[in-house]
Amino acid sequence: MQQIIPESTTSISPVLQNSVRKLGINPNHWYVVARSTEVKNKPIGITIWTRAIALYRDNSGKVHALEDRCPHRQVKLSHGQVINNQLECAYHGWRFNSEGECTAVPYLAANQKLPTCTIRHYPVKEQDGFIWLFPSDIKPSVEPMGLPEWEHLNYIATVSVINTQAHYSYLIENLMDMYHGHLHQDLQAWAEASLQSIDENQTRVDAHYTAQSYYKIDKIWSISQLFFPALRRLHPEPLDVSYVYPHWVSSLGNDFKIYCLLCPVNETQTKAYLIHFTSLNAFWRLHKLPVWFRRFIKNSLFGAAQKLLDGLVIQDVKMIEEEQQAYLQNPEIRNYELNRALVSVQKLMKTQVEK
Ligand code: FES
Ligand SMILES: [Fe+2]
Repeated sequence: MQQIIPESTTSISPVLQNSVRKLGINPNHWYVVARSTEVKNKPIGITIWTRAIALYRDNSGKVHALEDRCPHRQVKLSHGQVINNQLECAYHGWRFNSEGECTAVPYLAANQKLPTCTIRHYPVKEQDGFIWLFPSDIKPSVEPMGLPEWEHLNYIATVSVINTQAHYSYLIENLMDMYHGHLHQDLQAWAEASLQSIDENQTRVDAHYTAQSYYKIDKIWSISQLFFPALRRLHPEPLDVSYVYPHWVSSLGNDFKIYCLLCPVNETQTKAYLIHFTSLNAFWRLHKLPVWFRRFIKNSLFGAAQKLLDGLVIQDVKMIEEEQQAYLQNPEIRNYELNRALVSVQKLMKTQVEK
């Protein structure tokens, strides 16, 4: 359903606004819980919506996800080690296979049986540089969103990690409300956003803005605009931002694409990965070069937008956390909202959780 934005303003009902800050998540989606490079042979512990999970990689490179709790005495399995493709608890050395079954107890007497304690295991996939986990009790019927640009030779990636002491709704609303370019003026990210229309359904909200972009990546030298502000020139571009539950993706003209992959930790904490792609699509001569050389360019320029991306995250996190604190101190205070996209975003969050 598409809505063209009318001249008049809108406000979010205090009831809706208030209840959103305590919303849970819809677990029947793939969430991003780690970067591929974070999961090695040594287990790591992550938390997705209060569930502690141990991730580890077996000898074949496959990643597994087990409940991060030894059923013997409830210590964290992520403090143990991987032995023979199994997770061994640090405390007494009990071992668990990737199905969560106890397979060995080092001091089991001849007349004792292995305990039948099984812990939960979770569907997990490694795709496009990230570990995607399905935290539900039911089998996945959808695929991870994926990042087609991650492996594509025409895109340069930069990754920044968001760790914020705030409910995930504050982060999504920040990302969907492009009028907050005001906050990032010194970083020259975008300017003069204007919401034109919204498409929405039960799974996503697409907000279409127009904006002014500082960058135009159409000549080889123009990549250096990422490093040198003096080379940047404002020009109009479409700015599309989408909440594709539970993640976010945006494009600014043809040159930039940004994803935010979410891992809500609990009601007042959110982890997310922000991935910025600069497109090299305009350089058709480059595409004729050997693949190894194009990959070399892609890898050499990895992180080209790091300063910009990290700077944006610091500024956003400060605002988001202030909003959360203000809400905790006085949950009854009402906001005044003028951006219609945020009404759609809050509705989608509620619809997904109530599903
Ligand atoms: S607590 Fe894990 S083996 Fe004892
Ligand atoms: Fe921002």
